Amino acid sequence: MAHVDRASLARNEHLTFRANTGVGRHGWLRLTPAYGVRLVRDKLATLDKGAVVTDPFSGTGTTALGAAELGLYGQSIDVNPFLVWLGNAKVARYENAVLLDTLAASAEIVSQHLRANLDADLWAPNIFKIEKWWSPGALHALKVLRAEIDQFSGQMKTLMELALCRTLISSSNAAFNHQSMSFKSAEGTLPLFEEDDYSLVLKLWIESLDTIVDSARYSLQGKASVYLGDAREFGEVLEPADYVLTSPPYVNRMSYIRELRPYMYWMRYLDVASDAGELDWQAIGGTWGTATSKLNSWEPDVETPVDEALRVVYSQISEDGGKNGPLLATYVRKYHHDMWKHFMSLALHVKPGGTVSYIIGNSTFYKHEVPAHEWYAQMLSALGYENVKVAVIRKRNSNKALFEYDVSATAPLN
Ligand SMILES: C[S@@+](CC[C@H](N)C(=O)[O-])C[C@H]1O[C@@H](n2cnc3c(N)ncnc32)[C@H](O)[C@@H]1O
Repeated sequence: MAHVDRASLARNEHLTFRANTGVGRHGWLRLTPAYGVRLVRDKLATLDKGAVVTDPFSGTGTTALGAAELGLYGQSIDVNPFLVWLGNAKVARYENAVLLDTLAASAEIVSQHLRANLDADLWAPNIFKIEKWWSPGALHALKVLRAEIDQFSGQMKTLMELALCRTLISSSNAAFNHQSMSFKSAEGTLPLFEEDDYSLVLKLWIESLDTIVDSARYSLQGKASVYLGDAREFGEVLEPADYVLTSPPYVNRMSYIRELRPYMYWMRYLDVASDAGELDWQAIGGTWGTATSKLNSWEPDVETPVDEALRVVYSQISEDGGKNGPLLATYVRKYHHDMWKHFMSLALHVKPGGTVSYIIGNSTFYKHEVPAHEWYAQMLSALGYENVKVAVIRKRNSNKALFEYDVSATAPLN
């Protein structure tokens, strides 16, 4: 294992999602699970044009888009259908005519709805206590936009929906700060609407669409696709990979579904709260809603090369974690069983001599370290991978024990 000079590591934020804001299509939606596009570019820069790059945990599609920008073929999978939609929207080719039509149609939508008609009976997502998320004016504008966007199809609809996703977050009560926003024009600044929540949301949508259309213009040198799938069972759709670059869920109980809920409801990937728990249960490391109670009765169904180390950490966490200890210990155990299934499935997918690189953090539970990076390395070694290396790339936060690592290896030649 690599020797780590922990004290000398800066937080290296250019390697995280924060660096993606404003980097063209990578900045379309700001979501925490993303890693930085610079990391992807640095890693893939030396591959030959057309090389196949797989990301089995696509998230926001950073790897697929980064690969396509470099003239490679990016293919990714994710269990979350919203992220599959988002990834494919980010890697698509958009003809200029579509972009111009989208801008014209959106301007038309806004001009038809300058005044709110609060009597209109419009669809709203089934979000619990929705009135806590948006003020009445903002919510009404989002409903109007949703109904208008539903009249479109294909790429025009996709672009408008992406702008709606940005708008619904920036107009939520968490982010809404009533700053005066205006369109810029050659003559100066034009205040087009009254500054109430309703009109502000329409303006935010048009501005978001402008930003998105601007970066949809540049064409990608390569290609990419994002598929709905499970990293524990690779389907036949994927081409054998020259390079696997990914960041799987961390062992930190973060629920991607929880963070993505507002988008998923408005984009109609979620309808009732229990669906969210079901979807989280399918995700590796999911522990939200019904996933928690299912975890209680989970039993291992495979042996892994790290069972012995897992057993030790399992009893430490169960003993020191009070009444939650056994549940958290099972969570850690199931996570690594799932990752072992993933690595076994991966073995059939990577070309002989191909490279794999996993960006993963360690974690702590009641002061006991869960060294996922070391266990990944052991699982890869057990599958015959060579040159297995663990390198620290970043300190994660003020907790001295938490780091992000790159676990890389070369697939066996036969
Ligand atoms: C850390 S995020 C990936 C972030 C990504 N690198 C990016 O830049 O956006 C992990 C992703 O793995 C997905 N995931 C979890 N379990 C999965 C599974 N069994 N198969 C495929 N994807 C899964 C989650 O939905 C989440 O999007």
